[in-house]
Amino acid sequence: MARIGSGTDTRTIGSRQPARRSRSTLRRSKDVLALLQEDHKRVQKMFRQFQKMDHTDVDGMNALVEAACSELEVHTKLEEELFYPALREAFTDEEEQMEMLEEAQIEHDTAKGLIVSVRALQPGEARYVAAFTVLGEYVKHHIEEEESQIFKQAKKAKLDLQGLGEELKERRRQLMDGQEEDIGDGAADQRIR
Ligand SMILES: [Fe+2]
Ligand SMILES: [Fe+2]
Repeated sequence: MARIGSGTDTRTIGSRQPARRSRSTLRRSKDVLALLQEDHKRVQKMFRQFQKMDHTDVDGMNALVEAACSELEVHTKLEEELFYPALREAFTDEEEQMEMLEEAQIEHDTAKGLIVSVRALQPGEARYVAAFTVLGEYVKHHIEEEESQIFKQAKKAKLDLQGLGEELKERRRQLMDGQEEDIGDGAADQRIR
């Protein structure tokens, strides 16, 4: 007897598509600066939350720290892949602006090293709270400079901030889907003392 694909269910109701994307996405999507700023706020909130929490709550700290580190990894990657390169193009002949971007990149690299240091510690260890606090202070400094200098210049430059925002959202989706493969191994090699 043939049991060739005796189709219980072979036909998916395939042609039903969600036809509801046009309105909200096309009409008023956030530009890249607004999206990055949202990230900044979210991660700073996590650092503040950490300061207030019970530092004997090892699991709670671990969960929050990991969430913040992942958030930072995605954020820096998005900036390095999309935002900074777009600025580099737009800034072509301004030496000061290029230096500003170099500085930002170095700060990202340092922050990544700090993330590795934090992850190398156990939540119960004495330096754990200190290490994450230092990361928070460092990130705060970077965010302040980024928003006051880089964002300011980005607004003046000829940039499709809206289009970049769309690209950023798409790339974020990809990164969130494959976060382990995409980010995990790269960061694991960098170790700061
Ligand atoms: Fe940044
Ligand atoms: Fe940023």
